[in-house]
Amino acid sequence: MHTKKALIRRPGPRLAEGLLTHLERTPVDVELALRQWEGYVAALHAHGWQTLEVAPADDCPDAVFVEDAVVVFRNVALIARPGAETRRGETAGMEEAVVRLGCSVNRVREPGTLDGGDVLKIGDTIYVGRGGRTNAEGVRQLRAVFEPLGARVVAVPVAKVLHLKSAVTALPDGTVIGYDPLVDSPSLFAPFLPVPEEAGAHVVLLGGGKLLMAASAPKSAELFADLGFDPVLVDISEFEKLEGCVTCLSVRLRELYG
Ligand code: GLY
Repeated sequence: MHTKKALIRRPGPRLAEGLLTHLERTPVDVELALRQWEGYVAALHAHGWQTLEVAPADDCPDAVFVEDAVVVFRNVALIARPGAETRRGETAGMEEAVVRLGCSVNRVREPGTLDGGDVLKIGDTIYVGRGGRTNAEGVRQLRAVFEPLGARVVAVPVAKVLHLKSAVTALPDGTVIGYDPLVDSPSLFAPFLPVPEEAGAHVVLLGGGKLLMAASAPKSAELFADLGFDPVLVDISEFEKLEGCVTCLSVRLRELYG
């Protein structure tokens, strides 16, 4: 069986209206965004990932940031309840997709809110950002679903960026990486490696030491190459204008099959 599957959702016609929290709005070229998205998907394919498209949610400008709609641990999916009301229409298609993949499904329920971008999994540890989109009740519900499965859930305050994973992700060896000025509490992560660029904090683990990263973080890519990893750079400038990054453009499901 194919062991590396990723859920993706192509950008919709209203992409340029995506939400902004920490950035000023600058014009988004929707056609260029589509080409960049195709380049991102091609990079996944080139490194052995099979992609599955989640049904469009064209009324939701931010639907391309598909990772926010779900958290998957082992074969259990927790369907998010997005902190932004304009994103709530994104979850129905995601639920259908994870059911098709054979996941059992839980849902975050009112008054909980949780965005998948606030959840960073490293082995059996699940860091969850409590910030603008994920509330305390969302954190409680995530604990209730995943702790019985053996996860250690660590809650982390997030104030400086949109989502926890806007600030930190992790290298294949478990080292948490982040751009220091945007990490609220670096001491909560060990080991922690500061990176020289904001976009350098975001890596998708492609397997075999390969790291999918934004082309806007060349110095961080050099740092990772110097540590023996292999950066694979993709230009995602149009998504970065909407506070998106490489991690939120897909949901990687290797643990379902590995
Ligand atoms: N633009 C991504 C978000 O605000 O959710």
